[in-house]
Amino acid sequence: MSHSTDIRENISLHPFNTFHIDSTARFFTEISRIEHARALIESGKLSEVPFLLLGGGSNLLFTGNFKGIVVHIKNKGISIIEQAKDTVLVKVSAGENWHEFVLWCVNQGFGGLENLSLIPGNVGSCPIQNIGAYGVEVKDSFHSLEAIDLQTGELHVYASADCNFGYRDSIFKHELKGKVAIWSVTFLLKSNPQVHLEYGAIRQELAVMGIENPGIADVSQAVCNIRQSKLPDPRLLGNAGSFFKNPTVDQKFADKLLESFPRLVFYPLGEEKVKLAAGWLIEQCGWKGFREGDAGVHESQALVLVNYGNATGSNILTLAHRVQNSVYERFGVKLEMEVNVI
Ligand code: FAD
Ligand code: EPU
Repeated sequence: MSHSTDIRENISLHPFNTFHIDSTARFFTEISRIEHARALIESGKLSEVPFLLLGGGSNLLFTGNFKGIVVHIKNKGISIIEQAKDTVLVKVSAGENWHEFVLWCVNQGFGGLENLSLIPGNVGSCPIQNIGAYGVEVKDSFHSLEAIDLQTGELHVYASADCNFGYRDSIFKHELKGKVAIWSVTFLLKSNPQVHLEYGAIRQELAVMGIENPGIADVSQAVCNIRQSKLPDPRLLGNAGSFFKNPTVDQKFADKLLESFPRLVFYPLGEEKVKLAAGWLIEQCGWKGFREGDAGVHESQALVLVNYGNATGSNILTLAHRVQNSVYERFGVKLEMEVNVI
């Protein structure tokens, strides 16, 4: 049986990126079965032109038309593959929506991912930057993943130790970038879960909700409430979440900064390192709520750049560079971009 791939031409990427940037893909195809992926590899198209693997488009900034082929990964399915006394292994296809999967876990009573509620995007992308929020990272519940080798079409399994997970980082942003397509992720979840309330704002929100003995569904709801109160909803205002990472610096450097800026916001990481709140640094440089044309810095979260409507990717990138320069001039700190600039 042949599994030829359907390749369309000159497709608008506007519906496929949460920044709502108007860009066009020269070629575009959807992959929902492994046979489609293998047919695409065999066709040689991926070596003829540049390619971009696309999930939910929530961590991308298109700065022009994409001259190669966009490959939208759309495979679906969630299955429980093993259940032990207190744990469960759940395998999820890359094309599943992340938040819907988190809600499925919460409804099943499977704990571990509830603090990561309402993060946009798809399951297949979650290991790439080891998504994190409210004191939890995906690596904490990660078991393994399957990825397609884009040269051979073979499926390989990567265990947690193979992935080099770090803060907003993994091997898939480095050595394996452009070499593999993540096809499924398997999570090790708790069927008798404990809740993670270390992140202060969660306790406060639970108190506001009047909940004394929270379960994972309450934590999920609290996280959704906090996120909705400060992060812009991409359906209403184009954005890709935090545009920059929170920078890690030496304790000594932070101590020096504290002498000049006693209100500096930072978190000790151990080993003489601290993480600085990039949102605070950006706000101190006066950028919060800034708008030029349709490119702006969000009015309640300075770490989030926004598109008010018709900004181009270049408008957003120019603003990002101006923010980086002013933070460097004032604090001597280099902000690294979290968003993938295409
Ligand atoms: P995409 O944007 O489609 O792709 C991201 C990158 O992964 C690209 O380089 C792409 O080529 C590559 N890629 C996509 N799919 C695959 C695949 N199957 N195999 C190999 N490579 C692939 N992130 C956090 O960590 N924490 C947060 O709290 C958070 N909050 C956010 C809030 C908002 C409002 C928004 C808009 C974004 C937020 N993000 C957050 C960023 C984003 O949600 C995550 O990075 C998410 O994992 C991106 O998923 P995606 O499917 O949209 O990826
Ligand atoms: N702050 C300011 N001004 C701002 C924004 C933040 O002063 O405009 C200071 C405040 O002191 C605040 C602190 O920075 O208490 C931290 O802010 P917040 O709790 O909003 O978190 P963040 O560090 O800005 C990080 C992640 C988010 C994640 C939240 C919650 C990064 C780059 N960002 O943001 O992830 O949702 O914590 O855990 O690590 C993303 O990666 O896209 C993302 C949204």
